[in-house]
Amino acid sequence: MFSLKEILVTFQQRIEELTFPVGPVHLYDSIRYFLEAGGKRVRPALCLLGNQLFDDIQEDAFQAGIAIELFHNYSLVHDDIMDSAPLRRGRPTVHMKYNLSVALLAGDVLLINAFSYIHQVQHIRQNAVRVLFSNTTIQVCDGQQMDLNLADSVLTRVSYADYLEMITMKTAVLLAAGLQIGAMIGGANKKSQELLYTFGKYLGIAFQLQDDYLDTFGDPALTGKQAGGDIMENKKTALLVKAMEMGSPVQQRSLEQTIGNNDADKVSRTTQLFQDTGADRWLLAEIAHYTALASDCLTTIDVPDYRKAPLIELIDMLLVRKY
Ligand code: IPE
Ligand code: IPE
Ligand code: MG
Ligand code: MG
Ligand code: MG
Repeated sequence: MFSLKEILVTFQQRIEELTFPVGPVHLYDSIRYFLEAGGKRVRPALCLLGNQLFDDIQEDAFQAGIAIELFHNYSLVHDDIMDSAPLRRGRPTVHMKYNLSVALLAGDVLLINAFSYIHQVQHIRQNAVRVLFSNTTIQVCDGQQMDLNLADSVLTRVSYADYLEMITMKTAVLLAAGLQIGAMIGGANKKSQELLYTFGKYLGIAFQLQDDYLDTFGDPALTGKQAGGDIMENKKTALLVKAMEMGSPVQQRSLEQTIGNNDADKVSRTTQLFQDTGADRWLLAEIAHYTALASDCLTTIDVPDYRKAPLIELIDMLLVRKY
């Protein structure tokens, strides 16, 4: 059995050992630049932990973990273009440091490499692993389009249910699939795999809810992202959708007005409305709620408690994360 810390350190070493060609320079420099900047490595950790719930960690889980992390990094490079984000992991985003074309290509190469790694999985269940991985990658792209569609939608027409559907696709399914792929490699039966997938979905929803919270209320020195980026881009975050739902008619009109303009005080005024409506406090409770749903699901999985301990440690770590 490995502790969470050992898993994170070992996986980080595996990422550092990845080699890319020297040239063409801009393309591969930008990939190295992005991968070197860190990242929490939550998704591959979940894959390894999913394996370890049922058996010793297999080399296949590392290959799958690398595939998942490379796919995630691809999605971030392209996400930053779509979200006009200037900063990521405390540094200029790839399209800002290099240019748009380089960022598109860097994302493409990361994505293609992700598929090369998933094809390295030798396990008897390799077909099921590949199918789950490719279906999930498409769902993430679907979720990203839903995010853009909601950003373009009129605020009053977006429900919290629409929002939950969107974040399930863009974020939660990848955490869930990482866990299930790990469980497949660890030899879990179908029932346990499904429970772990559901656990991952709840955890992933909590994860994206917290990402939304940190975008507005986090310390940019810690998040490594621009503060208020979601507000500037009219993203239909949990904060915005709920502030609109919970606000008085006057607050609702103010929200529509601040979101509808690009005034210099857009971020500060919208943030104030999130606080005045109580959406900020509601969101913290909602993160705890989805985390509790995840924990309950983990309880029902039929493996000894000591095997669950590192996963519980990760849940606790995510609950207090500041980045
Ligand atoms: C950011 O993911 C994108 C979301 C789905 C919220 P992470 O917060 O896991 O980003 P890194 O990899 O740690 O930088
Ligand atoms: C990104 O959601 C989800 C994916 C990359 C698929 P966000 O756009 O909220 O992620 P951040 O905040 O830029 O990391
Ligand atoms: Mg986005
Ligand atoms: Mg983004
Ligand atoms: Mg975000």
